[in-house]
Amino acid sequence: MGRRYPRWLDTAVFYEIYPQSFHDTNGDGIGDIPGITQKLDYIRELGCNALWLNPCFASPFGDAGYDVSDYYSVAPRYGTNEDLKTLFREAHGRGMRVLLDLVPGHTSWEHPWFRESLKPEANPYTDRYVWTDSVWEEPQGMGSLRGLSDRDGSCAVNFFSSQPALNYGFARCEKSWQQPVDAPGPRATLRAMKDVMRFWLDMGCDGFRVDMAFSLVKNDEGHRAVMALWREVRAELDEYYPQAVLVSEWGNPREAIAGGFHIDFLLHFGASHYNDLFRCQAPWFSARGGGSLDAFIRYYRDSLEATKDQGFICIPSGNHDMERLARTLSPEEMKLAFAFLLSMPGVPFLYYGDEIGMRYLEGLVSVEGGYHRTGSRSPMQWDGTPNAGFSAANPDKLYIPIDPDPMRPTVAAQQGEATSLWRTVQALIRLRKANGALQSRGEIEFLQTDCPLVYRRSGAGQRILVLINPGQEPYSAAGFRGKLLYAIGGKVDMEGDRCHVDGGTAAFVLED
Ligand code: GLC
Ligand code: CA
Repeated sequence: MGRRYPRWLDTAVFYEIYPQSFHDTNGDGIGDIPGITQKLDYIRELGCNALWLNPCFASPFGDAGYDVSDYYSVAPRYGTNEDLKTLFREAHGRGMRVLLDLVPGHTSWEHPWFRESLKPEANPYTDRYVWTDSVWEEPQGMGSLRGLSDRDGSCAVNFFSSQPALNYGFARCEKSWQQPVDAPGPRATLRAMKDVMRFWLDMGCDGFRVDMAFSLVKNDEGHRAVMALWREVRAELDEYYPQAVLVSEWGNPREAIAGGFHIDFLLHFGASHYNDLFRCQAPWFSARGGGSLDAFIRYYRDSLEATKDQGFICIPSGNHDMERLARTLSPEEMKLAFAFLLSMPGVPFLYYGDEIGMRYLEGLVSVEGGYHRTGSRSPMQWDGTPNAGFSAANPDKLYIPIDPDPMRPTVAAQQGEATSLWRTVQALIRLRKANGALQSRGEIEFLQTDCPLVYRRSGAGQRILVLINPGQEPYSAAGFRGKLLYAIGGKVDMEGDRCHVDGGTAAFVLED
């Protein structure tokens, strides 16, 4: 790696936790930080060694906590700052890391900064948000809040109406109220956000997943100014917190990694063709898929080339904004998707519950600004006890209802079943950990990009062929000289240098 980076990323496998829905220890129907601490051994047993927690700060929860009202306090419903400190300590004691979710682009409209900013009299927070100078003028291309107070102006919002946009300036200023990035207001905003980062890093967190990282600077063609902003942040972290990691919600690794992030996600938005793999009518990883991977591979290869030795790409199994894998893939198909996700270069991220194939719950009433995303945020299904072991609360008090399907998957059932999805994910993570070629930095060479997909990972003096055949047709090819390390699904045979696989299989071959 040309650039300095924390070496723990070489073998990191992340687990994303939506704190509301993971484990409730005080019976109020909502997950909490002590619940996460209690489940660290579970996460470690699965093989993950790093966590990303969705926002757990004080908030009115108009957007599930992505509307922060106090960056310095854990939301009381999740516990206390002390509880989070305990989580950091317990995680570190197990060789695990914890990333928090930093929401730098906007606050809740209940944040004291915004309350001050609403005042017509000038004060230190007058320029903390993006305001026009007349209530009759709205910021172009963004929603806005108008008429909330006697301050004359409209305030830009980034997402929902309750999320006013913090002011990091404009790359190109065209109106009198637009401030350059180096004006005092924007600089003070950035300083305030750096203070927040330092506070949690000092408390023991290992870095941040950064919400909407690309969006801070406005009128920013090619995202050049926002890349410069993040490079400045990264340079300071490298100096004072060299082990701290920055992961971006950007969806364009070429920009995000050049902007100083260690990892960027391929996401359901943007040009990555990520959806074609898992989340469309006929995803490539389904038996009915059959399409080509070419568009994805082209984008992936270009992104990899552009970020080589600078940072990592992550293809997540899902997240709190996307429909779950199980909506479009069967349990057998999900095993093949994980064979891919856990053997690609970069850093894998698993969304809680995907390891057992939790379903996307259709038709739920929206909870805390979830809307269609609510179906991917239901409580973790631990076992066959009431509320699937998530909580001792009355079922009608749960944050989101449990999957009502009597056949819903649970951790307990799948741990007891040799070929379950859970066991497969565990085995795939073990395989990755045991073989340098499969880890973050290993190289990849695509040998075949229709069905089956065949690629070679190499690194640490090893070469491993990965063959994934989600289609229904058996496949047989020469050139597979080596030892079969692991196989998933139907029949996989090696005969001389020939490999025969059934439809619905994956094979890992350590080359001679
Ligand atoms: C990101 C988060 C999403 C949130 C939005 C606004 O996309 O992942 O959950 O609603 O930003 O903060
Ligand atoms: Ca609780």
